[in-house]
Amino acid sequence: MTETKTALVTGANKGIGYEIAAGLGALGWSVGVGSRDAGRGEAAVAKLRAAGIDAFGVPIDVTDDASVTAAAGLLEERGLDVLVNNAAITGGMPQEPTKVDPATVRTVVETNVLGVIRVTNAMLPLLRRSPSPRIVNMSSTVGSLTRQTTPGAETGPISAAYAASKTFLNAVTIQYAKELVGTDILINAGCPGFCATDLNGFRGVRTPEQGAAIAIHLATLPDGGPTGTFHDDDGPVPW
Ligand SMILES: NC(=O)c1ccc[n+]([C@@H]2O[C@H](COP(=O)([O-])OP(=O)(O)OC[C@H]3O[C@@H](n4cnc5c(N)ncnc54)[C@H](OP(=O)(O)O)[C@@H]3O)[C@@H](O)[C@H]2O)c1
Repeated sequence: MTETKTALVTGANKGIGYEIAAGLGALGWSVGVGSRDAGRGEAAVAKLRAAGIDAFGVPIDVTDDASVTAAAGLLEERGLDVLVNNAAITGGMPQEPTKVDPATVRTVVETNVLGVIRVTNAMLPLLRRSPSPRIVNMSSTVGSLTRQTTPGAETGPISAAYAASKTFLNAVTIQYAKELVGTDILINAGCPGFCATDLNGFRGVRTPEQGAAIAIHLATLPDGGPTGTFHDDDGPVPW
């Protein structure tokens, strides 16, 4: 038997976000396809609906207060059980700290960190009405300070914006988990692995569908499950 829940996935018009929407939809859930561009969002919704998924469009630019408030309003009647904060940008490479334009760092943090806080806080009143609310923050192992300081560990290019934004996101995830302890809300960070998407010029070695698996796992955690953790498909990732 399937349980009908409602999820919102930001940045779901393509890449890993699209596959997270498809995967949650395949569970019989109703899925809000977050997209900052209405046309791209509607195209994704049409594709998902053609595959039998109960998808609906949610226009949402995570950097824009009014857009995020409107998205929460759109979900008010349906309610919300699961939020997947997936939308992110790299800001373009290279980003060595000695050369990076501070404006690039600001833009990346605005999307990858402040966007998550903005969307999460707008959706929290809806999530609090759900019996089993879950929040998944799509992070990256490149944000792991442990990995970054482990000689020989694969951590991607030196990056003062993208990698550091994921470190910041991880820290924020922990702070949310600490504040929300004792509620039914579970909030965790997940890394999809290196997937072939627009984000990296399709150089990734995993499929977006494989990348979506960890988000689906964290979105479907049982009551009393872990919160304030960082996982990929292989298990816990060191912060
Ligand atoms: N691909 C990887 O190897 C990899 C590895 C580790 C972590 N991740 C993480 O996984 C998540 C998904 O990445 P991806 O590879 O699927 O990237 P992607 O293909 O570039 O997709 C990113 C999505 O985010 C949306 N987006 C960007 N800025 C936005 C904004 N201000 N408001 C709303 N939506 C916005 C994009 O919309 P537009 O289409 O309008 O641009 C797009 O839908 C990200 O959090 C990323 O950091 C990816």
